[in-house]
Amino acid sequence: MFTVLNQASGKSIQSSGKESILDAALAQGLNFPYGCQNGFCGKCKAVILRGEVEYEGKVPPALTEEDLAANMALLCQCRVSSDLYISVDELDDLANIEVRSLPCRVEKINRLNHDVIQIMLKIPGAQSLQYLAGQYLDLEHSDFEPRAFSIANAPVNSNLIELHVRLVEGGQFTNFIFKTLSEKTILRIEGPKGDFFLREESDKPVILVAGGTGFGPIKAIVEHLISVNSQREVSIYWGVRAQEDIYSNLPSEWASEFDSINYIPVLSEANSDWEGEKGFVHEVVVRDFDDLSDYEVYACGPPIMVRAAAAGCLEKGLPKKSFFSDAFEYAFEEDANE
Ligand SMILES: Cc1cc2nc3c(=O)[nH]c(=O)nc-3n(C[C@H](O)[C@H](O)[C@H](O)COP(=O)(O)OP(=O)(O)OC[C@H]3O[C@@H](n4cnc5c(N)ncnc54)[C@H](O)[C@@H]3O)c2cc1C
Ligand code: FES
Repeated sequence: MFTVLNQASGKSIQSSGKESILDAALAQGLNFPYGCQNGFCGKCKAVILRGEVEYEGKVPPALTEEDLAANMALLCQCRVSSDLYISVDELDDLANIEVRSLPCRVEKINRLNHDVIQIMLKIPGAQSLQYLAGQYLDLEHSDFEPRAFSIANAPVNSNLIELHVRLVEGGQFTNFIFKTLSEKTILRIEGPKGDFFLREESDKPVILVAGGTGFGPIKAIVEHLISVNSQREVSIYWGVRAQEDIYSNLPSEWASEFDSINYIPVLSEANSDWEGEKGFVHEVVVRDFDDLSDYEVYACGPPIMVRAAAAGCLEKGLPKKSFFSDAFEYAFEEDANE
C-alpha cells in the first residue's frame, strides 16, 4: 500500500497502485475534480510534488510537454508507484454527494428532433439520486461499455432522471438507444459525476453556453435557478448547426417569462431565412461582452466549442476560476486541437 498526501487539503488516501489515483481518492471520499475520466479533458491534472506515478501505455493526450516538464499528472489515468505528495484543489460542494450505482427503468422515450432523443429514467422504489444541477452519469447496459450522459433536469424530483441523447454516426450505444431501446427496459446508472455544476455561493451574472445536446445540463442549471427563485442575471447561448437542431422551445419560454433570462440561439449553417445570430456560438458570446471580469461562464458541448469558448472568454477578462465546463469528450478523438 502507498500513501497519497494532498498538500492542498492535508488529507491522505491509501492506494495499492492497481486503480487510478482518482478512483482511489473518490472511493475514499476525497472530492478531486474530474470530467471525462478518459484522459482527454485535463480536469484531473495535479502537480506531483514528490514521488512517482505510472501510466498504462502512452502518456494521455491531455498532458502537454509543458505539463510534463512542470511535473503534472492526470490522476484519472495514472497509478501510484511510490508514496506520493501531490497538490489538488478539492471541491467542497460535492462533499456530501455519494456516487452510486443504481438500477433504473426506461420510463419514457421521446424523439425531440431528427437526431436527439429524450430518455426519462425512473429509479425504482424509494431510492433517488442526489446530484447537483449540471452533473452527468454513466449509463450502463450489459452489452456495452458505460457511456457518459449529462442529467438534463434539475434535482427536484431525483428519482426521475432526464437525458438528451444525440445519435452519433457509427456510434454503438447511441444507435442501440435510437433503434432498439424500448420503454420498461432496465438499465443501470452510476453517478452523479463531474465538477460541472452551478456555483451557488456566487451571485455573479451567469453566461450559459451550450453546443448541441450540451443544452441538457444547461437546462438543468436554468431549471434549478428558477426553482430557487434566483435573481441572478442569466444569458443562454445555444449553438447548433441549423434551425431543426434547436430541439427545445424552453429557452424562448424562459426568456419571455423571466426578465432576468436572456436567450440567444446561434446557427453555424443558417438558411437565408434565419434572422437570428449566425456563426460559432463562442464568437457571439465574446462579441456581446466587452469585459467578463465579473461574470461566471458555464460551457457544455463538443470539446472544440468548449476550448474556443474558454480561450475567447479569458481574453475578455474572465477569471480562469470563473469558467466551468463539461466537454463531451470521447475515447477516440483524433486531434483535440483541430
Ligand atoms: C461528461 C460527458 C457528458 C456527456 N453528455 C452527453 C449528453 O448529455 N448527450 C449526448 O448526446 N452526449 C453526451 N456525451 C457524449 C456521449 O458520451 C457520446 O456521444 C457517446 O458515448 C457515444 O457513444 P457511442 O457508443 O454511440 O459511440 P462510440 O461507438 O463510442 O463511437 C463511435 C465513433 O463516433 C465517435 N464519437 C463518439 N462520441 C462522439 C460524439 N459525442 N461526437 C462526435 N463523435 C463521437 C468516436 O470517436 C468513434 O469514432 C457526453 C460525454 C461526456 C464525456
Ligand atoms: S483527463 Fe482525467 S478526468 Fe478528463
